[in-house]
Amino acid sequence: MRGKPNSTGLITALDTPDAARAEAWARAVAPHVGLVKVGLELFCAAGPAVVARIAAHRPVFLDLKFHDIPNTVAGAVRSVCATRPAMLTLHGGGGGAMIEAARRAAEDSLGEARPAILAVTVLTSFTAAGLAETGVIGGPTQHVLRLARLALEAGADGLVCSPQEISRLRDAFGEAPLLVVPGVRPAGSDKGDQARVAAPEEAAAAGADWLVVGRPITAAPDPAAAAAAIAASLPR
Ligand code: C5P
Repeated sequence: MRGKPNSTGLITALDTPDAARAEAWARAVAPHVGLVKVGLELFCAAGPAVVARIAAHRPVFLDLKFHDIPNTVAGAVRSVCATRPAMLTLHGGGGGAMIEAARRAAEDSLGEARPAILAVTVLTSFTAAGLAETGVIGGPTQHVLRLARLALEAGADGLVCSPQEISRLRDAFGEAPLLVVPGVRPAGSDKGDQARVAAPEEAAAAGADWLVVGRPITAAPDPAAAAAAIAASLPR
């Protein structure tokens, strides 16, 4: 899924340790989403086999956010390429050499069928104060732009950012990078641990390619209806 969608698309995060529940969610939301996301909670509980199970419904965005020395990350990318994910994530803060190694490992494993490599910039749960505590100079927007430049120059296909940085990233890097955006909250839904959030319509208008929505869909009484409502709110 390295290509851009024609208009902003929806991804549902299947955050549960229960493979059967994740598969049921994937089946339910499949008509309304472009991809489904397997993250650390599900992958650590159910292992690589869950990806094939989920991929029977929609292509899988494997969000394991790798961050290690280049050789280790390259090995991890080779390992997860066996599950044929459409997209995978690593932390931009892991540096250019790590990102280059990941891209090379993906190309060596799957060639043209390789997943899109997405660099996570600043997690959407970070406030400016929380980020400053980690020693970062400047606020989230400045750090997102810094990590974005590093990641794109190292060969990342796209970035994971909050809704609040989309327009600055488009101004700086144009339309080419895939922008995948969590921290999306329909009006009236609970923010949970997310800090830098916006509504789906706002994130789409700012130029997001993909919106990642978890709990507002999976914690809803009817996840399929919740996904359908968000998808219907996006411009076509
Ligand atoms: O439930 P919620 O909509 O907050 O889920 C957001 C999903 O996106 C989670 O699976 C989380 O791991 C992921 N994510 C995020 N912020 C990032 C990168 C990924 O919230 N920067």
